[in-house]
Amino acid sequence: MILLEDDKKINQLEVKQDKRRMKTKRKTEEHAAIGGVFDKFTLVNLNKILSKGIIKEFIGTISAGKEANVYFALGENNVPLAVKIYKIDPQNTKWMKNYIFGDPRFKKIGTSTHKIIYTWCKKEFKNLTQMKRHDIIVPTPILSRDNILIMEFIGEDNGTPAKRLKDIDELENPIKEMNFILDQISKMYLNAHLVHGDLSEFNILYYKEKQIIIDVSQAVSIYHINAPVYLQRDIKNVLNYFSKFIDSENVPSAEEVYKKILLNE
Ligand SMILES: Nc1ncnc2c1ncn2[C@@H]1O[C@H](COP(=O)(O)OP(=O)(O)OP(=O)(O)O)[C@@H](O)[C@H]1O
Ligand SMILES: [Mg+2]
Repeated sequence: MILLEDDKKINQLEVKQDKRRMKTKRKTEEHAAIGGVFDKFTLVNLNKILSKGIIKEFIGTISAGKEANVYFALGENNVPLAVKIYKIDPQNTKWMKNYIFGDPRFKKIGTSTHKIIYTWCKKEFKNLTQMKRHDIIVPTPILSRDNILIMEFIGEDNGTPAKRLKDIDELENPIKEMNFILDQISKMYLNAHLVHGDLSEFNILYYKEKQIIIDVSQAVSIYHINAPVYLQRDIKNVLNYFSKFIDSENVPSAEEVYKKILLNE
């Protein structure tokens, strides 16, 4: 085939681009996630965790999401564990950055997909630890390694996870439950100096008539520039959920709750 001068240029450019793409593809394949989760490095880490006996056996999947999968596993002495494995997916890092950059606890973390996801996972571990220390009811963190987070499993010993608040049809004392969560938000802000950032009935478990806050990876320091916006959003989500069970005159306004927290009343 005879190529015109311009066509040749385009062709050369395409070859160059293709070479670059293949190089990136090879790199991506190394990191490629099997089933969206287990890339080579995750498998190596899982092997280490298994060989140390921290996890004895994986039993099943609790949840498969966009960001992470959560598994039910058994640890030493058959202790039930929840193992959250974050997917190495560049799509997820775009919005994650908003909750990492600007949080004074995380500086110089790099910008590669791996670095962001590993930081995200470490952030969830740190947030759980910080919350637990200040009496916020969250699963006890056990270990974080790169994109793997191991924590206390909330549910039955046979692996049935606790229901989310979203899946509960009836609450015996909704006012008490609402006040409990508002108090947790307040403690989180005033004592742990954190804002959850994605608090709603989807990220609260309900087990043995107690609420347990989960999914705290995006929680930011109160010094993060968006902390006030996230705090107001959390309060609104929670009030909105409980207003389905409580007469409106017994539900405070979001502004009232927000001001009370800021004024430490
Ligand atoms: N410690 C735990 N014990 C029992 N179940 C858990 C625990 N942590 C998470 N789960 C279950 O896994 C689900 C997903 O967990 P989580 O909310 O932390 O992940 P996620 O970031 O929302 O994942 P995605 O948004 O990608 O679905 C929860 O809704 C809950 O059912
Ligand atoms: Mg969630």
